[in-house]
Amino acid sequence: MYADLREKVAVVTGGSKGLGSAIAIRFGCEGMSIVVNYHTDEGGAQNAVRAIRDAGGRACAVQADIGSEDGVRRLRDAAASEYGRLDVWVNNAGMENRSPTDKLALEDWNQVINTNLTGVFLGSKCALEHFVENDKPGCIINMSSVHEKIPWPTFAHYAASKGGVELFTKTIALEYADRGIRANCIGPGAINTPINKEKFADPEQYDTTVSMIPMGRIGEPEDVASAAAWLASEEARYVTGITLFVDGGMALYPSFQYGNG
Ligand code: NAI
Repeated sequence: MYADLREKVAVVTGGSKGLGSAIAIRFGCEGMSIVVNYHTDEGGAQNAVRAIRDAGGRACAVQADIGSEDGVRRLRDAAASEYGRLDVWVNNAGMENRSPTDKLALEDWNQVINTNLTGVFLGSKCALEHFVENDKPGCIINMSSVHEKIPWPTFAHYAASKGGVELFTKTIALEYADRGIRANCIGPGAINTPINKEKFADPEQYDTTVSMIPMGRIGEPEDVASAAAWLASEEARYVTGITLFVDGGMALYPSFQYGNG
């Protein structure tokens, strides 16, 4: 538990399932107030809201497409009207789809870039406006991936979006450091969420993925939520511009693990 979080207010995008839901619920366990964003799955967001209230936090579910400026503003307005402040903004919402790059439709490229990269820009801009206008410190957490640094054939648009998130985040970290605004990425490896449901249901693909993780297990959403809580808290007050990998060592060139090469 991080005592300073108790009075804080957060926006978590893509909070209806997976990592966003786990982060929102963890924040709720810290006693925070949370705007839980959802795109289409209102039921999922309401489940998260209930879990947060049961844990002692306050929460509301707000629909918004984070790829639109109106959408992210709606989230900020909800934080202000419901809870009267904003301290932490988690740009978690994201998507992926597979395609060989020579067959990658422009429409698919645009959709992934718009959600994963433009959505992070719009959410960060919205939070920054609030922090600057109110002359207050704040914390932005952007969900990147091990694929901000590891190339991922047939997911070129996804890797491009996450590489973009990394340098965007480092840039705003530098740009706003003297105002007490921190911006960091979390870089998950392979985590057990709906995005991986089909892949992990196939025993062969599951085993292949585990074999790429030096710690020998798929991550759980709570592993990522713990990192988010720490980054949001005062315990991380001197940390800005990093990517905190939560990946069981996946980004450490696992093929070298036993001295190969
Ligand atoms: P998920 O598919 O379970 O959840 C994604 C969430 O984003 C959903 O709630 C979805 O509704 C929301 N979303 C998508 N487009 C949206 C839009 N336009 N507006 C608002 N919400 C939107 O995926 P998961 O695993 O929870 O992923 C969360 C983030 O973590 C993503 O950015 C993903 O790229 C990243 N990540 C996940 C990894 C994993 O292994 N699960 C690994 C590395 C990164």
